[in-house]
Amino acid sequence: MSRQTIIAANWKMNGNLALVESITSTINSIEFADNVKVVVCPSYPYLAAFASKISNDSINLGAQNISEYAKGAYTGEISADMLNEMSVGYAIVGHSERRSIFRETSTQIAHKVKAALANGITPILCIGESEAERMTEQTETVLSAQLQPVIDEIGIESFKNVVIAYEPVWAIGTGKTASPEMAQETHKFIRRFLAEQNAEIADGVSLLYGGSVNAATSEELFAQPDIDGGLIGGASLKVDEFKTICSTSKG
Ligand code: 13P
Repeated sequence: MSRQTIIAANWKMNGNLALVESITSTINSIEFADNVKVVVCPSYPYLAAFASKISNDSINLGAQNISEYAKGAYTGEISADMLNEMSVGYAIVGHSERRSIFRETSTQIAHKVKAALANGITPILCIGESEAERMTEQTETVLSAQLQPVIDEIGIESFKNVVIAYEPVWAIGTGKTASPEMAQETHKFIRRFLAEQNAEIADGVSLLYGGSVNAATSEELFAQPDIDGGLIGGASLKVDEFKTICSTSKG
């Protein structure tokens, strides 16, 4: 089956209006293949400016987080409804920085995925092991334990509208990219884990790799059979580098 290729940019708490301007003016003019989508996730204050500058149907807007609550007295939270009004089609959920720094639990992450789906927003569910977990051969156990609560909450069939980003924590912001072979092996495991519950759904899910992807490494990573694109941090803030990464997407 031919899966959707997704090149997603996670700006984290970086960027400004000038970056919104320079990124949009650069990537608006790229001609992407039909099955390629670019998803840019700037910080919340820049969503409206970004939305107003997109003039390319392949480019989509994403949020870096989403509240599990619909509305009410939750100071500082941003609801799915609000994101909908800002033309946001995707939301990163369960990024390792949210899990470790902000103590988001697997249950909370499962609720966020559900809230996104209920409002027509595609969650980009992040999973990944730490260096110590990989060294002690716990990678598959950790990834299964991150996926299963979400499957239990929404049901495996709902994964037809979920994107998964495998981001080994040891590769995030460190310059230590997983080798294409190692990333492929782990992506294959993730797809097999999903296939044990529903083979057709597993075959259709886009699995993105994230962790120090740059213009020099993206092509070989994206060429792997179970890697359907990337979730790019630091390199997505550099206009020319991000443009190159976009051009290496599997069309
Ligand atoms: P880097 O590309 O900076 O390693 O960040 C990856 C990431 O966390 C994307 O969500």
